[in-house]
Amino acid sequence: MMSALSAGPSGLPRLLVGLDQLDHSSARDGAGVPMTLAEHERVHGPLPRPAPLQLVEAVQRSGLRGRGGADFPTAVKLRSLVEGVGGGTIVVNGSETEPASAKDRLLLSRLPHLVLDGAVLAARAVGAREVIVKVSDDALASLRALESAISVRSGDGPTIQLTGGPTGYVTGEETAVIHHLDGGPPAPMFVPPRPFERGYRGRPTLVQNPETLAQVALVARYGERWYRELGTSADPGSALVTISGAVAAPGVYELAFGTPMTDLLEAAGGSTEPLQALLIGGYFGTWVDSSRAMRLRLAREDLRSVGCSLGSGVLIALGESACGLHESARVIEYLAAQSSGQCGPCVHGLRAIADGVGALASGSAGERERERVLRWAAEVRGRGACHHPDGASRFVESALAVFGAEIESHRAGTCHSASAGLPLPTPGLPRPSGAVGLAVAPRAGRRRRR
Ligand SMILES: Cc1cc2nc3c(=O)[nH]c(=O)nc-3n(C[C@H](O)[C@H](O)[C@H](O)COP(=O)(O)O)c2cc1C
Ligand code: SF4
Repeated sequence: MMSALSAGPSGLPRLLVGLDQLDHSSARDGAGVPMTLAEHERVHGPLPRPAPLQLVEAVQRSGLRGRGGADFPTAVKLRSLVEGVGGGTIVVNGSETEPASAKDRLLLSRLPHLVLDGAVLAARAVGAREVIVKVSDDALASLRALESAISVRSGDGPTIQLTGGPTGYVTGEETAVIHHLDGGPPAPMFVPPRPFERGYRGRPTLVQNPETLAQVALVARYGERWYRELGTSADPGSALVTISGAVAAPGVYELAFGTPMTDLLEAAGGSTEPLQALLIGGYFGTWVDSSRAMRLRLAREDLRSVGCSLGSGVLIALGESACGLHESARVIEYLAAQSSGQCGPCVHGLRAIADGVGALASGSAGERERERVLRWAAEVRGRGACHHPDGASRFVESALAVFGAEIESHRAGTCHSASAGLPLPTPGLPRPSGAVGLAVAPRAGRRRRR
């Protein structure tokens, strides 16, 4: 157990604690003002200095897993660098390329010091001399908040650099981030070696999502026992979930693992119409029909039982008035266009799949199109240098499982559903920062909407 720990926030919010105290009157870009270093230290106290292994062990006992989508145990990555040659780099992967996610932008634009604390703690633990924070060029509020936060932090510790990068779904993949930082195009590289073996400038590099690092900062201050006070034994702690779609108050909410799906929707103001399905895990995620989805909790074992995972913490509610087939065709069209063009099965396979789903949605598909799409989806899986085809094929398979019965009505031309407008970036335009509202979760025991 970690020594000399402070008492952490009880209940929720944890990561987002103190955010509701900030002055919202000078909000910019719909993102609100960032917490200053003084405010941050008033909420959480000064940065602790655990011994390297002490931090790794506390993170291991906390059960913390990465929040960038791969769900990988954070302590395993930390330990591999601690036991390595040292002198590497910490990369804060703030790309947040998932169009329906807003949690990383929320953390970086409002609570930059919490994320930087996690990065500095990780750097000290693994003997890294530098931290690089990478965000997308269009995340203007995050860039401003980070620039100002970095400028006021003491020089005692690793150097901290901030860098922007091009947008695009696969630019957030960790090897694409490294490639870009090394001066190459922001496209994934073939692995191994993985970044923790040979990353930025050929040195061992720890790439972590901002939420993961913010959680590390809390574990370092308050300890693993506190961390486990929320959540389940298999999934301890809390998570940021971006909830959008047919809900009254779309936004980013901090919720405890183990929370029933019905309560997640309630946190976002409740559904605005009867729901037909939930998309869990974002555009690499899985459609689940609403009757099954409502029986789930925010817990890995529940999500796994219906073939999905929380991914980067995205939940989209699809109302009955919308057409799931049409929305899925839009999303797979977007994903196909995001391929970095390096692997044949990804380039040609996703294109064929997108055309097939588009034809199913427009009603122009032949009788065997569904089977062809499913065959292609199975064929592209595992055949790319990165997981882009895997995520895209999972999404399409779930779409055809949940909305497959509607193919006939599309062929007959009788689908007149309204567009649900699942969020997708417009090429050439910055991502609208206000598209997904930023909201703080209710405190434990009291529900509050913003
Ligand atoms: C196509 C693709 C896009 C990704 N985009 C992001 C991203 O925008 N942000 C992120 O943190 N991780 C993203 N990831 C996951 C990263 O590769 C990596 O697993 C993650 O940054 C590690 O951090 P974590 O262990 O804290 O989750 C993406 C992965 C893939 C396959
Ligand atoms: S699988 Fe697709 S996105 Fe990933 S590296 Fe290959 S071509 Fe690029």
